[in-house]
Amino acid sequence: MNLRTAIIPAAGFSSRFLPATKAIPKAMLPIVDKPIIEFIIDEAIDSGIEKIVIVIGRHGDVIVNHFSFDQQLETKLNNSNREIFADKINRFSNRVEIVFVEQKEPLGLGHAILMAESEIKENCFAVLLVDELIYNEKKPAIGQLMCIYDEIKAPLLGVYDVPLETASNYGIVSGTESGNGLIAVSELIEKPQKPSSTQAVIGRYIFTTDVFDGLKQTTSGVDGEIHLIDALNVLKTSVFAKHIEGERYDVGQPLGYMQASLKHALMRDHIANAIKHVLDQ
Ligand code: G1P
Repeated sequence: MNLRTAIIPAAGFSSRFLPATKAIPKAMLPIVDKPIIEFIIDEAIDSGIEKIVIVIGRHGDVIVNHFSFDQQLETKLNNSNREIFADKINRFSNRVEIVFVEQKEPLGLGHAILMAESEIKENCFAVLLVDELIYNEKKPAIGQLMCIYDEIKAPLLGVYDVPLETASNYGIVSGTESGNGLIAVSELIEKPQKPSSTQAVIGRYIFTTDVFDGLKQTTSGVDGEIHLIDALNVLKTSVFAKHIEGERYDVGQPLGYMQASLKHALMRDHIANAIKHVLDQ
C-alpha cells in the first residue's frame, strides 16, 4: 500500500454556520473542547496516514496557528502544573507530517483538491471532509476504504444510506452491489434534484492521481462550483463505492453538530452528569 497522504479541505465558506464562521473556519469549531479538524486527523492517523495536506482559505491563518508550536503557551502550562493541557496542544507533532496549501478563490471542493496536487508524491491519496464525523472504535472510516483499495486500485467513495428527503444535499451513487459490500458505480450525481438512490457520498474518498486531470477538465456545476465527483464523470473510469460502518454525524450543519457535541459530552462522566442535572431542572 503506497497510500500515505490525505487531503483535508478546510477552505469553504461554511455559510450554514454563519455568523459563527464569519472569522473562524468551520474546521476549528469545537466538539466540546477539541476542534473538528483534530477528530479528522485522528481518524487519518489511526488508519495509517503519515502526511496530511490541509487546504486553507479565508482565515486559514487560524488553522496554521493552531498546529504551530507555541513555546510561550507550553512553558506557561508546564510551569503551572497544567501539563495535561500542554499535551493537548501538541498532540500531532511526532505522529504525522502536516503541510498547508492555499485555495485563493472559493471555487469549490474539486478546485480545493487541485490546489494540493504538488503535495501528492504517490499514485493515490485519501480525502477526508470536515463535514462528517464517523464514530467506529474498531475501524476508522477512511481505514475501511484503505483496507480494500489495494484490491481494486480505482477511485473509491465512502457512502452511507441517508433519508430520501435529505439525499439532494449530497453526491448520490447508484450501482450494483457485489457480495463484499462493494458497489460498482454506474451513476454519480452531485446534489441531484430527484435522487435515484439514497446512497450518499459522505466525505471519505480514495483517489488515483488521474483525478487531477479530470478536475482540470471539469467545468463548474451545481452552485457554480467545481465538484470532486464531477471530475470522476469526466474521466469515465471505473469508480467503486463502499458502505461505511459507524455512527455518522453531519457536522456540516448545526443539528448534526449539536448531536455530535452531545454525544461527545456524554462520553465524559462529569459533563454527562452536569447535562443530566440541567435536563432534570
Ligand atoms: C460535499 C460534496 C458532496 C458530498 C458532501 C458530503 O458537499 O460535494 O458530494 O456528498 O460534501 O458531506 P458540500 O457539503 O460541501 O456541499
